[in-house]
Amino acid sequence: MSDFVLGAGGPIIAANFRAIGLTISVLTVLAFLALFVRNVFLARDELGSEVELAANRRPYLSDEELEGTKLDRSLTFALVVLGITSLILPFYWLAEPGRQDGATDLKTETFEIRGERLYTGGAQCVNCHAAGGVGGPAPYVFQDADGQFLANATWTAPALNNVLLRYSEEEVTYILNFGRPGSPMAAWGTPGGGPLTSQQVEYLVAYLASLQVQTLDEVAINEYIASLSESEDAAERAASEELAQDVVVAADKLSDEIREEVARSVEAGEFETAGEAVFNLGLFSGFKAGSLSCARCHTQGWSLGPETSPDILEPGIAACGGGNPSGIAPSLCGGLEHFPDDTWLKPDGSWLEFGEFPVALDGSIIELDDKGNPQTGSLDEDGEPIGYEILDNGDLADCAFESGLWEPGGIAADAYPFDPDFTFVPDDSEDGFEDPPVLQVSDLNGTTAVLSGGRLGGDCTIVEMPPRTSRANYDFLYNGAEAGRGYGRGGQSSGGMMPGFGGTLPPDLIEEVVNYIRGLE
Ligand code: HEC
Ligand code: HEC
Repeated sequence: MSDFVLGAGGPIIAANFRAIGLTISVLTVLAFLALFVRNVFLARDELGSEVELAANRRPYLSDEELEGTKLDRSLTFALVVLGITSLILPFYWLAEPGRQDGATDLKTETFEIRGERLYTGGAQCVNCHAAGGVGGPAPYVFQDADGQFLANATWTAPALNNVLLRYSEEEVTYILNFGRPGSPMAAWGTPGGGPLTSQQVEYLVAYLASLQVQTLDEVAINEYIASLSESEDAAERAASEELAQDVVVAADKLSDEIREEVARSVEAGEFETAGEAVFNLGLFSGFKAGSLSCARCHTQGWSLGPETSPDILEPGIAACGGGNPSGIAPSLCGGLEHFPDDTWLKPDGSWLEFGEFPVALDGSIIELDDKGNPQTGSLDEDGEPIGYEILDNGDLADCAFESGLWEPGGIAADAYPFDPDFTFVPDDSEDGFEDPPVLQVSDLNGTTAVLSGGRLGGDCTIVEMPPRTSRANYDFLYNGAEAGRGYGRGGQSSGGMMPGFGGTLPPDLIEEVVNYIRGLE
């Protein structure tokens, strides 16, 4: 997003003021020089002091003249000087914001340069995430619980030139600090036991921000376009239409590129539906180093590629999540169980347009609130409609969550079974992956809601998504999870690690992927 935040006006104005300031100082120096020269040449030698005026001296001004023309002239001169001073001061203040902007730009630039040095040098991010953050295969060594060598493999390191469109800066900072346990992504920050100071992590985040591609999020695009015509910078205001056009064109181009890749992979027979293709985007082609896929987190072994894990598209494995390696996200299998209410879809299975009201299976109309969230139909004490979803349990600030998945300690041994033969195949339910327990309202009644496996500690705000509609499902994919809140069954991680895809996938493809996960068995 950074490419449309920068304005060119600041430096230009600053340059003009510099020129004015320089001219004034040169003129002042010249005037002083002239005065000095005049004094030296025009002054005549003192001829001795006399009480009376000697013949060769000019009489000084008379009292009338002193209080009249001389005084007037001196006062006028003072007024002019005062006028000039009072004109220059406002100019100085006018120029001050430009100077400050210049300083901020300089700071951003310095951060980016230092970040880039760390990225390509010190921290060697470039070895796995490639130059410019486009991502690619990273070497990976499997070890057992005791750190003994098991096997070599490559693990696709996601593109980072869109990471801030998917995560907030805090979330990226969190990832840099704690890494991704169970993957090649180590904990880099001091809080996670890594070598980088928080200042260095900040440099890296600033550098990543400078790499970001065009966002596809319409809300962000519209906000940017609206901000152009109100910009303080005249040049930006003047070019606002062109700039707005550029952003729309760039977003369309990127959307088309993604749609073409999805269409290509379906045509090539890699996947059966567009939804499945989006879910696995880049599996065979390496498109955007898998950064737009869901399966890299929701399917065990996906990031190792189809050669190492040939079963990753099989029913019962694809999207069933959990487990090592890469099973950092919950199973989505049994999709309808997750979002059981299909009220957002029309009876023919097509999607409602925004603004159209969804119809429940019994034919009744479902009310939406002003944000488009479906309401339960019940009213609270104040007569306000009760929406689906959020169950508050304590204050977010009190949230002392424990997450075996995201903390530096790594994945809790009993959280998901790890198959040492790397088959990653939870093929029968007996020794395969088990979902965490479904969160019950009764779990939240006490001050602490500790779920089995120690994945969630007490007093977090927990967002259940009970009567889940495809709309709720869509919104969740669009926005992602918020750090400090646990979502879904068992309130999985509360690490905010489910990315938001509103900035990186076009809306029609998000719908396709919702259709796909809702259809999972
Ligand atoms: C040894 C290879 C390797 C190195 C070095 C490395 N990373 Fe990573 N990084 C990965 C892999 C692999 C993943 C994806 C892990 C997964 O599948 O969850 C990742 C994930 C990430 C993510 C999360 C992206 C997302 O979309 O999930 C960020 C941000 C990141 N790395 C930044 C960095 C930065 C900054 C550095 C340098 C300090 C760095 N990485 C160094 C391999 C590496
Ligand atoms: C970087 C890893 C990652 C990626 C990529 C990712 N997810 Fe997730 N997802 C998670 C995590 C972690 C959670 C658990 C959220 C929490 O509790 O914070 C989650 C939760 C979910 C849930 C809620 C599960 C439940 O039981 O209610 C759904 C649905 C989901 N993801 C779908 C998707 C889809 C579809 C995509 C691709 C468009 C995707 N995810 C991409 C990590 C990921």
